[in-house]
Amino acid sequence: MNTEGGAGSAYLREVRVAPSILSADFGRLREQVGEVLDAGARVIHVDVMDGHFVPPITIGPLVVSALREQVHEVGGILDVHLMIEHPELHVAEFARAGADSITFHIEATAHAARTATLIREHGASVGIAFNPATPVEALSELAQKIDLALCMTINPGWGGQVLIPGSPEKVQRLRALLDRGLAPGQGAVLEVDGGIDPDTAPLCRAAGASLFVAGSAIFGAADPAAAYVAIARSVDAA
Ligand code: DX5
Ligand code: ZN
Repeated sequence: MNTEGGAGSAYLREVRVAPSILSADFGRLREQVGEVLDAGARVIHVDVMDGHFVPPITIGPLVVSALREQVHEVGGILDVHLMIEHPELHVAEFARAGADSITFHIEATAHAARTATLIREHGASVGIAFNPATPVEALSELAQKIDLALCMTINPGWGGQVLIPGSPEKVQRLRALLDRGLAPGQGAVLEVDGGIDPDTAPLCRAAGASLFVAGSAIFGAADPAAAYVAIARSVDAA
């Protein structure tokens, strides 16, 4: 069970940009993560792909555990985005590796409620992601049982794509669903992922998102720290 990142989970509730290491240079991963941590990033997004739920295969718990010390040392958190089938089979291993939040896709399991409970039992924040073709209502039964909802603003699988037009409007509908019947600020955190840069992030911010995943706009830039700061400034992030 993961405990050391627990305190840092407050970062999830701030307006934050979460650099996605998918677009980092893996030969220099520690250095690249260090650059964005130094620039102020405290939520590091880790994209796990299995070659089934999405075509590519990326990384697993080994990389999470390789980063845990560096990220937790500064009080930061590892935000793990599982794009894998049967996520419930892998929750324990990712939690043990140091994942502070674990997000799975609603399309990837018939047992979303049980998977959410399992993540919580392992001490991590609970996230549910959904694809562009999945309606926000797919989350309605679980909206108040999760810590974060991840709205894909591209089709998952690859970095460097363009934000799907209409995403901000979908974010707005999701924000309303998450907040239904709750006092302001009590609803789940709304994270957007895909095609986020200094132009698109403010559109999603205005629609109600507060956590902004950015991969290629940060690690594809000549200066990842400066690119992080530019996106953070565009949304008045912490
Ligand atoms: C893609 C991943 C994203 C990816 C985003 O399926 O979930 O986190 O890194 O990349 P950019 O920011 O380049 O669109
Ligand atoms: Zn992601």
